[in-house]
Amino acid sequence: MGKAGEKSREDLQPGQLNARKACGKSGLAADPEDRMPDRPYVIDQMISAKEIAARVEALAREITAHFAGTDKLIVVGLLRGSFVFIADLVREIPLPVEVDFLEASSYGDALHSSREVRILKDLRGEIAGRDVLVVEDIVDTGFTLSHVLHLLQTRGPRQLKVCALLDKPSRREVAVRADWTGFAIPDEFVVGYGIDFAQRNRNLPYIGKVRFTEGTGP
Ligand code: IMP
Ligand code: MG
Repeated sequence: MGKAGEKSREDLQPGQLNARKACGKSGLAADPEDRMPDRPYVIDQMISAKEIAARVEALAREITAHFAGTDKLIVVGLLRGSFVFIADLVREIPLPVEVDFLEASSYGDALHSSREVRILKDLRGEIAGRDVLVVEDIVDTGFTLSHVLHLLQTRGPRQLKVCALLDKPSRREVAVRADWTGFAIPDEFVVGYGIDFAQRNRNLPYIGKVRFTEGTGP
């Protein structure tokens, strides 16, 4: 048997149906409660550490040029997936930078297409009248980013821009896009460089896709 996304619809239990809906072809959900972490899997490299480093440098150059002359750029990392990306990115931005974090969590619902996004940890600082850059790991359906942007917009920043490491355009349900994107990727469940599968694999230096091995021989 192949990966979860190749199962026929009839093979799926209701919980898995929800998971498939939440994360498309990969059959994995962004919500850890919908995940199946005990199934054996391997990780196939998709984007090398070297490719990431080169892209981060290019993104930082564009962001620096855009915010040139700012008195202070507030870089807002969305926890937890962006922590590696934001660490590399800010070190390539030679501007006065303040780093803050926000944690949002989105919950899928099997019956409704809308998603509830909750703020689990808010910013420590004020952003009114400030130049703000939101840093996200992956824009998937777009619910999380859209919710966070609406929230931050109500606080009256001078500028509110977004840099996302990864984008899955084929998964979009809400019309939202990052101002800067590292890589557009297909509808695969990815891990590494801060991004997790059930809290695992965040420490991989590259980005890889999860491939289940269950049922295939050694
Ligand atoms: P959205 O609200 O559907 O755009 O969800 C975005 C969030 O879901 C990202 O910030 C990730 O935390 C998570 N996510 C989406 N795709 C993946 C993936 O392939 N691997 C790990 N987490 C993912
Ligand atoms: Mg995230």
